[in-house]
Amino acid sequence: MQIKVVENYEEMSRAAADLFAEIISANNDCVLGLATGDTPIGLYNCMIDDYKAGKIDFAKVKSVNLDEYYPIAPDNDQSYRYFMNKYLFDSVNIDKKNTYVPDGQAKDTDAFCAGYEKLINSLGGIDIQVLGIGRNGHIGFNEPGAELHPYTHLTSLTDSTIEANSRFFASEADVPKHALTMGIRSIFKARKIVVLASGEGKAEAVKAMLSGNISTSCPASLLCLHSDVILICDKAAYSLV
Ligand code: GLP
Repeated sequence: MQIKVVENYEEMSRAAADLFAEIISANNDCVLGLATGDTPIGLYNCMIDDYKAGKIDFAKVKSVNLDEYYPIAPDNDQSYRYFMNKYLFDSVNIDKKNTYVPDGQAKDTDAFCAGYEKLINSLGGIDIQVLGIGRNGHIGFNEPGAELHPYTHLTSLTDSTIEANSRFFASEADVPKHALTMGIRSIFKARKIVVLASGEGKAEAVKAMLSGNISTSCPASLLCLHSDVILICDKAAYSLV
């Protein structure tokens, strides 16, 4: 894993956006793997700046998102579909028909998950995937546990994730208890993975990810096994390494 430690959130976001710009400029119908949470918002702002400056064009770009709460409606302002529209898609010339976020209202979740894997394959795989890290080391919604799932699946959120994500909801009770998420193997299909971490709150997770122990108790630690991963983090997130 390549590691780049920068001063702060702004520098992290710019460095990540430069990697995205490189991929999009080299191949204007590339496939982006996108994530939600506070961490990638700065990256998306930089991508919007690059688009407005004429540096990148999203007309033919396709995107696939990592995860979505379940159940949730796409127009719920806490859904990841709503998030993506708000923080990126509405501000660039991407065709929303080319943007895929797991369906938080899927009736048959098994069929939906199998279809999502087929979709990723039919797009030719993901060229560049951005990942944040949960405080407990989760990636997407692949939570720590005795086992991890390889492919897209329905999962239960841990208490710690429900608590961490409750800041966005009216109360903890309102946070959905389940989610649809790409699995570890789906994430590993990406040709390049960019992991972002900012702030002291992520220092323990970054330390565990880089400890050298590869364990399902820290799903992010598995990323050390992928051949093209870069961690871009600020000094605060790197402070315990
Ligand atoms: C959520 C998402 C993850 C994200 C994580 C960290 O649970 N499913 O994809 O990486 O939270 O979020 P944040 O960036 O807000 O710390």
